[in-house]
Amino acid sequence: MSDAKKAGVRAPSILEVDLEAFSIAMSYVEGDVARIRLDSMSDNESRETLTEIGRQIGALHEFGLVHGDMTTSNIILSKDTLPFILDFGMSAHSTDAEDRGTDLHLLQRSIFTSHTLDAKRSERIIHQGYIERLGNRQAGLSIRKQREIARRGRYFAIR
Ligand SMILES: Nc1ncnc2c1ncn2[C@@H]1O[C@H](COP(=O)(O)OP(=O)(O)OP(=O)(O)O)[C@@H](O)[C@H]1O
Ligand SMILES: [Mg+2]
Repeated sequence: MSDAKKAGVRAPSILEVDLEAFSIAMSYVEGDVARIRLDSMSDNESRETLTEIGRQIGALHEFGLVHGDMTTSNIILSKDTLPFILDFGMSAHSTDAEDRGTDLHLLQRSIFTSHTLDAKRSERIIHQGYIERLGNRQAGLSIRKQREIARRGRYFAIR
């Protein structure tokens, strides 16, 4: 979480780490998880929010981090609808296309399964923000991997 903030990603601030109690105190982000807000947004609002989510993931990846559990339940939209990324329990230092593609894939899957939003449109918009941050070449590698991971999932689902 602290590295994500160094990457310029919006995330809660760590206030205190208690090694004996195994606890972390972090700042409370006012707002609602994206899962319950995204579907009631106007097209313009969802476009802005999804682009910004793509940028945030791009910033994380550019810094050499991956989230590992990138779903719309782990993103809080603040009152001004700025996305904050939460739940870094599965995150890691990695620049591996497989790990980056997994972040994009998990997010896309959560949009597809828990939202009424147009999933294809959402994916395109997220990619726009992602490419903006990471550049065409790097982003292209992750996006190709994302597609490959999605194909693998379908293959197993059919069998
Ligand atoms: N810093 C925070 N500010 C506001 N709400 C938070 C914050 N951290 C967590 N939450 C709320 O608590 C929920 C669960 O947090 P988090 O995802 O970090 O825990 P988790 O144990 O991984 O839970 P889950 O298994 O549901 O993902 C979030 O979806 C969010 O609603
Ligand atoms: Mg969570």
